Amino acid sequence: MRKKLLSLIFVSFLGVSCSKVAVRNSDRLLKDVYQDFFTIGAAFNKGNMPIPIDEDDEGIVFEDDGLYNHFNSMTLENDMKWDKLHPAENVYDWTKADKYVGFAKSHNMGVRGHALVWYRALPGYMSLGEINTKEELFLHEKKHIEDVIEHFKDSVYCWDVVNEVISDNEDKDITEENTYRHDDLWYELSGKEYILKAFQYADAKLVELGIRDKVKLYYNDYDNTKPIKMAKTLKMLNWLKEENCPIDGIGLQCHYHMGSFVKEELESAIYEYSSLGLDVQITEFDVDIYDESPNVTPVDSYVDGAPQKILDAQATIYNHAFKVFRKYKDKISNVTFWGIRDNNTYMNDPIEFFGHAGPNYPYIFDIFGEKKPAFYVISDYED
Ligand code: GLA
Repeated sequence: MRKKLLSLIFVSFLGVSCSKVAVRNSDRLLKDVYQDFFTIGAAFNKGNMPIPIDEDDEGIVFEDDGLYNHFNSMTLENDMKWDKLHPAENVYDWTKADKYVGFAKSHNMGVRGHALVWYRALPGYMSLGEINTKEELFLHEKKHIEDVIEHFKDSVYCWDVVNEVISDNEDKDITEENTYRHDDLWYELSGKEYILKAFQYADAKLVELGIRDKVKLYYNDYDNTKPIKMAKTLKMLNWLKEENCPIDGIGLQCHYHMGSFVKEELESAIYEYSSLGLDVQITEFDVDIYDESPNVTPVDSYVDGAPQKILDAQATIYNHAFKVFRKYKDKISNVTFWGIRDNNTYMNDPIEFFGHAGPNYPYIFDIFGEKKPAFYVISDYED
């Protein structure tokens, strides 16, 4: 009896101590919570790095909140784009990008390379008038891709080889003509051929370096879960496949706003793209708190922070999206947030660019680095 009593006391003691030390997922690092699903990434820029990136940052004492520990994948928001790495013909500047890559290495993060060919973020010499023929264009494209891959070798585990070439035209009758964006020198000089070339140049260089199995090649775009844009993207991907294009995967940027998330569209996109044998990565996830749907204007400007009901609504979108990501974990290898804390977001860049009257709060950590409802729902999930 005495023994029974003692063991009862012992068991209840254990019970108390267990519940005291019980760790909720939201007390853990996100990359650990998701270790059996996919890697977890974030976009980094000089404003959310705990080390100096620019020369004039030297000497600044950086606040190190350790939030980067939640991530095991890093994308450089801007500092690996063409204009940053290769600002003039035959002039490269690796200094900044190398600092991110060094930091990522020493903190066990892989680096997603972003982006080799993008019609934006090009330096002046890469413009019509400076470059006038398809042959010239391809020479520049080849050189840039080869030099960049040669520099980073396998310190990046994948590249967005081509970014954002599908047109936003809403015409349901999808033709060769309305599939691609036309308003840049790439299409103007070469039609769609530069897309295939980019993958071929990247692939050949990786093969030459003996690291093709370590570095994967992606096509990346926004709104490619929306039916019309998805149909166009599939058209392009089918063409690339017919041409034996060495493409490994597709990036779904997944920039959502309060009115744009449709679960069925996301599921169908993941399903369709992976049916082509492509790996899927969610490359730029965030949720803009202002609803762009025309029937919800005018929007408030949340200058003093977003109200709880907005943060909860935002968390609901994070929740639904992550449910889908977990469900398709065998098709998705990475999910990356396009930022870390709400105090540092491209969405607060000049008003004419991102269109809102007030500050935005798109991420899982608030302006002080505290966890938001979105963080809790994706950590303490119930499937
Ligand atoms: C696109 C690009 C990113 C970035 C965002 C805006 O999604 O792929 O590199 O420029 O726009 O921040």
